[in-house]
Amino acid sequence: MTALPPPTGLLAELTHRCPQRCVYCSNPVELVRKSSELDTAEWQRVFRQAARLGVIHVHLSGGEPAVRDDLEDLVAGAEEAGLYTNLITSGVLLDECRVQNLADAGLAHIQLSVQDSDAALADHIGGHRGAHLKKMAAAGWIRAADLPLTLNAVVHRQNLAHLPDIIDLAVATGAERLEVAHAQYQGWALKNRDALLPTRRQLDEATKLVEARREELRGVLTIDYVVPDYHAIRPKACMGGWGRQFLVVAPNGDVLPCHAAASIPELKFDNIRDRKLSQIWQSSSAFEKYRGTDWMSEPCQSCPKREQDWGGCRCQAFALTGDAGSTDPVCALSPDHHLVGEKLHEAYEESDPKWHYRGYSDTDPVSAILKK
Ligand code: SF4
Ligand code: FES
Repeated sequence: MTALPPPTGLLAELTHRCPQRCVYCSNPVELVRKSSELDTAEWQRVFRQAARLGVIHVHLSGGEPAVRDDLEDLVAGAEEAGLYTNLITSGVLLDECRVQNLADAGLAHIQLSVQDSDAALADHIGGHRGAHLKKMAAAGWIRAADLPLTLNAVVHRQNLAHLPDIIDLAVATGAERLEVAHAQYQGWALKNRDALLPTRRQLDEATKLVEARREELRGVLTIDYVVPDYHAIRPKACMGGWGRQFLVVAPNGDVLPCHAAASIPELKFDNIRDRKLSQIWQSSSAFEKYRGTDWMSEPCQSCPKREQDWGGCRCQAFALTGDAGSTDPVCALSPDHHLVGEKLHEAYEESDPKWHYRGYSDTDPVSAILKK
């Protein structure tokens, strides 16, 4: 038996609380409440265990990680453990002093989310009035603190027309990198799929635009581009393969192979309060379930691409077929591939799709979300 290589990345979901309520949020629909969150010492123990296991990068995420008053201590704990520390934030709770304190604590990089280039539409997509202006101020403080900045823009049918302006916005903020990521249909994005799925024409135009602007902005801005699965004929190696490169620690200490893995009801997750991270990585049933290729059925089992895409996305296979062990229906070789076309058709047929804001309930006001 070959030894299992260590994971390289840890996504630390410090909290699910967030002042924004983005309609494409990848958090689970059942959000963890504040009362169940790991405390400062528990997170710091996670970081030490992760570093010993071989993890190189930690992504401090949420929800909104800055909801936590101990964020600076968590950054310091991750840095002391020897991890490269990246903060993924909406920016709306940051101020100049806090950004400098995070830099002083050892933060290496910030990814700041934007919902659109137009303030009104951005605030509408994020369900939080005034957020866009706060983000623009946060971008200035991040650059002033000399922290490398990536802008994250999730794109979909409602904002793709503004992609040229979103790219200009990234240049104007002084970001070094822009991640243009088409929404991935997990969590809240799955609930809002009919409103978000782009048309083929929008996708083709966006892809052409990104290619042209990449050339034009060489040396000024790097543009990463994540294409939408539903228009593909081969799936991506989601998470780099299940249980191969990444692990996710949820706010309550559950350890998952993927941020959306809780959507698969048959999986049972070990918790960092009960077992060491190394033991969970090596033998947790949730990691073992779809690791490698033994679990695959046809057509993946005999496919030459099985060790390249690892059968695609388990969460997507479950969302579309009800069986997480099936071939990702995005693959044209899957017997369920027709389901993808049907979902696209349904989305375009729906003239006024419902818009569910993320939250502990669809109708929660922002102030209530922050207290939970
Ligand atoms: Fe990938 Fe399976 Fe499709 Fe082959 S059949 S390309 S392994 S998803
Ligand atoms: Fe979970 Fe792809 S989102 S495996």
